[in-house]
Amino acid sequence: MLRSLRDLATDAQFRGVGLGAFNVIHLEHATAFARAAERAGRPVVLQISENAVKYHGALEPLCLATMAIARAASVPISVHLDHAEDVDLVREAVSYGISSVMYDGSRLPDDQNRATTRDVVSLCHQAGVDVEAELGEVGGKNGVHDPAARTAPADAAQFVADTGVDLLAVAVGSSHAMTTRNAHLDEELIRAIRAAVTVPLVLHGSSGVSDDGMRGAIVAGMTKINVSTHLNKVFTGSVRASLARDPSLVDSRKWLGPARSVVEDEVLRLLQLYG
Ligand code: G3H
Ligand code: ZN
Repeated sequence: MLRSLRDLATDAQFRGVGLGAFNVIHLEHATAFARAAERAGRPVVLQISENAVKYHGALEPLCLATMAIARAASVPISVHLDHAEDVDLVREAVSYGISSVMYDGSRLPDDQNRATTRDVVSLCHQAGVDVEAELGEVGGKNGVHDPAARTAPADAAQFVADTGVDLLAVAVGSSHAMTTRNAHLDEELIRAIRAAVTVPLVLHGSSGVSDDGMRGAIVAGMTKINVSTHLNKVFTGSVRASLARDPSLVDSRKWLGPARSVVEDEVLRLLQLYG
Protein backbone atom coordinates (compact mmCIF):
# COMPACT_ATOMS: atom_id res chain seq x y z
CA MET A 1 0.00 0.00 0.00
CA LEU A 2 1.24 3.45 -0.93
CA ARG A 3 1.65 5.70 2.12
CA SER A 4 2.86 9.19 2.99
CA LEU A 5 6.55 9.44 3.90
CA ARG A 6 5.71 11.91 6.64
CA ASP A 7 3.42 9.37 8.30
CA LEU A 8 5.94 6.52 8.03
CA ALA A 9 8.85 8.65 9.25
CA THR A 10 6.89 10.28 12.08
CA ASP A 11 5.76 6.87 13.29
CA ALA A 12 9.34 5.51 13.14
CA GLN A 13 10.63 8.60 14.96
CA PHE A 14 7.99 8.16 17.68
CA ARG A 15 8.95 4.50 18.12
CA GLY A 16 12.70 5.21 18.01
CA VAL A 17 13.37 2.88 15.07
CA GLY A 18 14.94 3.41 11.63
CA LEU A 19 12.95 3.60 8.40
CA GLY A 20 14.85 1.90 5.57
CA ALA A 21 14.99 3.92 2.33
CA PHE A 22 16.56 2.08 -0.58
CA ASN A 23 17.38 3.30 -4.08
CA VAL A 24 15.53 1.80 -7.02
CA ILE A 25 17.73 1.89 -10.12
CA HIS A 26 15.93 -0.86 -12.01
CA LEU A 27 12.77 -2.81 -11.38
CA GLU A 28 14.53 -5.77 -9.74
CA HIS A 29 15.40 -3.40 -6.87
CA ALA A 30 11.79 -2.33 -6.37
CA THR A 31 10.47 -5.90 -6.23
CA ALA A 32 13.33 -7.04 -3.95
CA PHE A 33 12.78 -4.15 -1.49
CA ALA A 34 9.00 -4.61 -1.42
CA ARG A 35 9.29 -8.38 -0.86
CA ALA A 36 11.85 -7.86 1.92
CA ALA A 37 9.54 -5.34 3.61
CA GLU A 38 6.66 -7.82 3.42
CA ARG A 39 8.82 -10.58 4.91
CA ALA A 40 9.93 -8.21 7.69
CA GLY A 41 6.40 -6.88 8.22
CA ARG A 42 7.91 -3.39 8.11
CA PRO A 43 7.34 -0.24 6.06
CA VAL A 44 9.95 0.82 3.53
CA VAL A 45 10.77 3.74 1.23
CA LEU A 46 11.49 3.05 -2.45
CA GLN A 47 13.42 6.01 -3.80
CA ILE A 48 14.35 7.03 -7.31
CA SER A 49 17.20 9.52 -7.64
CA GLU A 50 17.57 12.20 -10.28
CA ASN A 51 20.68 10.29 -11.40
CA ALA A 52 18.59 7.13 -11.94
CA VAL A 53 16.13 9.22 -13.96
CA LYS A 54 19.03 10.44 -16.12
CA TYR A 55 20.16 6.83 -16.62
CA HIS A 56 16.68 5.82 -17.85
CA GLY A 57 16.18 9.04 -19.81
CA ALA A 58 12.78 9.58 -18.16
CA LEU A 59 11.07 9.45 -14.76
CA GLU A 60 7.66 8.14 -15.78
CA PRO A 61 8.31 4.42 -16.56
CA LEU A 62 10.30 3.60 -13.42
CA CYS A 63 8.20 5.86 -11.19
CA LEU A 64 4.83 4.45 -12.26
CA ALA A 65 6.09 0.86 -12.10
CA THR A 66 7.55 1.43 -8.62
CA MET A 67 4.29 3.00 -7.47
CA ALA A 68 2.38 -0.02 -8.81
CA ILE A 69 4.68 -2.35 -6.82
CA ALA A 70 4.11 -0.21 -3.70
CA ARG A 71 0.31 -0.23 -4.12
CA ALA A 72 0.26 -4.02 -4.49
CA ALA A 73 2.37 -4.63 -1.36
CA SER A 74 0.82 -5.74 1.94
CA VAL A 75 2.95 -3.30 3.97
CA PRO A 76 3.09 0.52 3.87
CA ILE A 77 5.50 1.81 1.22
CA SER A 78 6.41 5.36 0.21
CA VAL A 79 7.76 6.17 -3.25
CA HIS A 80 10.18 9.06 -3.08
CA LEU A 81 12.09 11.20 -5.60
CA ASP A 82 15.66 11.35 -4.27
CA HIS A 83 18.27 14.12 -4.70
CA ALA A 84 16.23 16.20 -7.14
CA GLU A 85 18.07 19.37 -8.09
CA ASP A 86 15.72 20.12 -10.99
CA VAL A 87 12.45 21.71 -9.84
CA ASP A 88 10.74 20.69 -13.10
CA LEU A 89 11.48 17.05 -12.23
CA VAL A 90 9.86 17.66 -8.83
CA ARG A 91 6.75 19.03 -10.61
CA GLU A 92 6.65 15.97 -12.88
CA ALA A 93 6.94 13.57 -9.91
CA VAL A 94 4.13 15.43 -8.14
CA SER A 95 1.94 15.04 -11.25
CA TYR A 96 2.31 11.23 -10.98
CA GLY A 97 1.11 11.24 -7.37
CA ILE A 98 4.49 10.31 -5.84
CA SER A 99 4.50 10.21 -2.01
CA SER A 100 7.41 12.58 -1.44
CA VAL A 101 10.44 14.31 -2.89
CA MET A 102 13.87 15.26 -1.67
CA TYR A 103 14.77 18.65 -3.02
CA ASP A 104 18.57 18.85 -2.94
CA GLY A 105 19.74 22.45 -2.90
CA SER A 106 22.73 21.58 -0.72
CA ARG A 107 25.15 22.74 -3.39
CA LEU A 108 23.47 26.14 -3.73
CA PRO A 109 24.46 29.20 -1.71
CA ASP A 110 22.61 29.01 1.61
CA ASP A 111 20.05 31.77 0.92
CA GLN A 112 19.18 30.27 -2.47
CA ASN A 113 18.87 26.78 -0.98
CA ARG A 114 16.40 28.13 1.62
CA ALA A 115 14.36 30.15 -0.90
CA THR A 116 14.08 27.35 -3.49
CA THR A 117 13.33 24.75 -0.82
CA ARG A 118 10.52 26.97 0.47
CA ASP A 119 9.05 27.22 -3.05
CA VAL A 120 9.31 23.45 -3.51
CA VAL A 121 7.58 22.89 -0.16
CA SER A 122 4.76 25.18 -1.21
CA LEU A 123 4.17 23.48 -4.58
CA CYS A 124 4.45 19.98 -3.05
CA HIS A 125 2.24 20.63 -0.02
CA GLN A 126 -0.53 21.97 -2.27
CA ALA A 127 -0.56 18.50 -3.85
CA GLY A 128 -0.24 16.58 -0.56
CA VAL A 129 3.38 15.56 -1.32
CA ASP A 130 5.94 15.56 1.53
CA VAL A 131 9.36 17.20 1.21
CA GLU A 132 12.81 16.25 2.49
CA ALA A 133 15.68 18.71 2.10
CA GLU A 134 19.38 18.68 2.94
CA LEU A 135 21.38 21.08 5.05
CA GLY A 136 25.15 20.63 5.02
CA GLU A 137 26.14 18.79 1.85
CA VAL A 138 26.88 15.09 2.37
CA GLY A 139 29.84 14.57 0.00
CA GLY A 140 30.62 11.74 -2.39
CA LYS A 141 27.92 12.30 -5.03
CA ASN A 142 30.65 13.23 -7.50
CA GLY A 143 33.01 10.56 -6.33
CA VAL A 144 34.76 12.82 -3.82
CA HIS A 145 34.55 11.42 -0.30
CA ASP A 146 34.47 14.27 2.14
CA PRO A 147 32.95 13.16 5.42
CA ALA A 148 34.02 16.45 7.03
CA ALA A 149 30.78 18.42 6.44
CA ARG A 150 28.70 19.00 9.56
CA THR A 151 25.23 20.48 10.16
CA ALA A 152 24.98 22.87 13.12
CA PRO A 153 21.93 22.13 15.35
CA ALA A 154 20.74 25.76 15.60
CA ASP A 155 21.08 26.15 11.83
CA ALA A 156 19.05 22.97 11.30
CA ALA A 157 16.23 24.31 13.49
CA GLN A 158 16.25 27.63 11.62
CA PHE A 159 16.25 25.87 8.23
CA VAL A 160 13.16 23.82 9.17
CA ALA A 161 11.41 26.97 10.43
CA ASP A 162 12.37 28.92 7.28
CA THR A 163 11.32 26.26 4.78
CA GLY A 164 8.58 24.10 6.34
CA VAL A 165 10.23 20.81 5.24
CA ASP A 166 8.78 17.54 6.56
CA LEU A 167 12.14 15.74 6.95
CA LEU A 168 15.69 17.04 7.19
CA ALA A 169 18.85 15.38 5.85
CA VAL A 170 21.89 16.37 7.90
CA ALA A 171 25.66 15.96 7.61
CA VAL A 172 27.02 14.02 10.58
CA GLY A 173 30.05 12.14 9.21
CA SER A 174 28.75 9.93 6.40
CA SER A 175 29.70 10.27 2.74
CA HIS A 176 27.96 8.98 -0.41
CA ALA A 177 29.01 5.94 -2.44
CA MET A 178 31.41 4.34 0.05
CA THR A 179 32.21 0.70 -0.69
CA THR A 180 33.68 0.11 2.77
CA ARG A 181 31.60 0.33 5.97
CA ASN A 182 33.98 2.31 8.15
CA ALA A 183 32.50 5.84 8.25
CA HIS A 184 32.47 7.29 11.75
CA LEU A 185 29.25 9.09 12.68
CA ASP A 186 29.18 11.88 15.22
CA GLU A 187 26.50 10.55 17.60
CA GLU A 188 26.81 13.51 19.94
CA LEU A 189 25.98 15.83 17.04
CA ILE A 190 23.03 13.61 16.02
CA ARG A 191 21.67 13.89 19.58
CA ALA A 192 22.13 17.67 19.54
CA ILE A 193 20.35 18.07 16.18
CA ARG A 194 17.60 15.68 17.33
CA ALA A 195 17.03 17.88 20.39
CA ALA A 196 16.95 21.05 18.29
CA VAL A 197 14.50 20.06 15.52
CA THR A 198 11.11 18.34 15.57
CA VAL A 199 11.00 16.75 12.10
CA PRO A 200 12.46 13.27 11.38
CA LEU A 201 16.18 13.28 10.47
CA VAL A 202 17.61 11.58 7.39
CA LEU A 203 21.00 9.90 7.05
CA HIS A 204 22.42 9.91 3.52
CA GLY A 205 25.40 7.82 2.48
CA SER A 206 24.48 5.02 4.90
CA SER A 207 26.35 2.39 2.87
CA GLY A 208 29.56 3.48 4.59
CA VAL A 209 28.20 2.84 8.10
CA SER A 210 28.69 -0.46 9.94
CA ASP A 211 25.81 -2.33 11.61
CA ASP A 212 26.96 -1.12 15.03
CA GLY A 213 27.36 2.44 13.77
CA MET A 214 23.83 2.32 12.39
CA ARG A 215 22.35 1.01 15.64
CA GLY A 216 24.09 3.87 17.48
CA ALA A 217 22.88 6.48 14.96
CA ILE A 218 19.26 5.33 15.28
CA VAL A 219 19.41 5.35 19.07
CA ALA A 220 20.94 8.86 18.87
CA GLY A 221 18.00 10.05 16.76
CA MET A 222 18.34 9.23 13.06
CA THR A 223 15.12 8.04 11.41
CA LYS A 224 15.22 7.67 7.58
CA ILE A 225 18.23 5.58 6.58
CA ASN A 226 19.22 5.93 2.90
CA VAL A 227 21.16 3.01 1.42
CA SER A 228 22.14 2.48 -2.21
CA THR A 229 25.80 1.61 -2.90
CA HIS A 230 25.92 -1.26 -0.40
CA LEU A 231 22.97 -2.97 -2.14
CA ASN A 232 24.50 -2.37 -5.57
CA LYS A 233 27.63 -4.06 -4.31
CA VAL A 234 25.61 -7.06 -3.12
CA PHE A 235 23.67 -7.18 -6.42
CA THR A 236 26.76 -6.88 -8.62
CA GLY A 237 28.69 -9.43 -6.54
CA SER A 238 25.98 -11.98 -7.23
CA VAL A 239 25.88 -11.18 -10.96
CA ARG A 240 29.65 -11.50 -11.17
CA ALA A 241 29.57 -14.89 -9.41
CA SER A 242 26.69 -16.21 -11.58
CA LEU A 243 28.42 -15.27 -14.83
CA ALA A 244 31.77 -16.67 -13.68
CA ARG A 245 30.14 -19.92 -12.56
CA ASP A 246 28.45 -20.52 -15.91
CA PRO A 247 29.94 -18.74 -18.95
CA SER A 248 27.22 -20.30 -21.16
CA LEU A 249 24.42 -18.28 -19.45
CA VAL A 250 22.28 -16.30 -21.89
CA ASP A 251 18.86 -15.79 -20.28
CA SER A 252 19.25 -12.63 -18.17
CA ARG A 253 16.67 -13.92 -15.67
CA LYS A 254 19.20 -16.60 -14.69
CA TRP A 255 21.62 -14.02 -13.26
CA LEU A 256 19.26 -11.12 -12.45
CA GLY A 257 16.97 -13.42 -10.44
CA PRO A 258 19.66 -14.66 -8.01
CA ALA A 259 20.98 -11.10 -7.62
CA ARG A 260 17.47 -9.87 -6.78
CA SER A 261 17.16 -12.64 -4.17
CA VAL A 262 20.41 -11.83 -2.36
CA VAL A 263 19.49 -8.14 -2.29
CA GLU A 264 16.08 -9.06 -0.86
CA ASP A 265 17.77 -11.08 1.91
CA GLU A 266 20.18 -8.24 2.70
CA VAL A 267 17.35 -5.69 2.84
CA LEU A 268 15.43 -8.00 5.17
CA ARG A 269 18.50 -8.12 7.43
CA LEU A 270 18.87 -4.33 7.35
CA LEU A 271 15.18 -3.73 8.11
CA GLN A 272 15.48 -6.05 11.12
CA LEU A 273 18.64 -4.22 12.22
CA TYR A 274 16.90 -0.83 12.00
CA GLY A 275 13.84 -2.04 13.89
O1 G3H B 1 20.22 9.23 -1.30
C1 G3H B 1 20.72 8.09 -1.28
C2 G3H B 1 21.79 7.77 -0.41
O2 G3H B 1 22.21 8.75 0.40
C3 G3H B 1 22.55 6.52 -0.57
O3 G3H B 1 23.94 6.71 -0.37
O4 G3H B 1 24.90 5.05 -1.94
O5 G3H B 1 26.23 5.97 -0.07
O6 G3H B 1 24.35 4.40 0.39
P1 G3H B 1 24.92 5.46 -0.50
ZN1 ZN C 1 21.89 10.69 -0.66
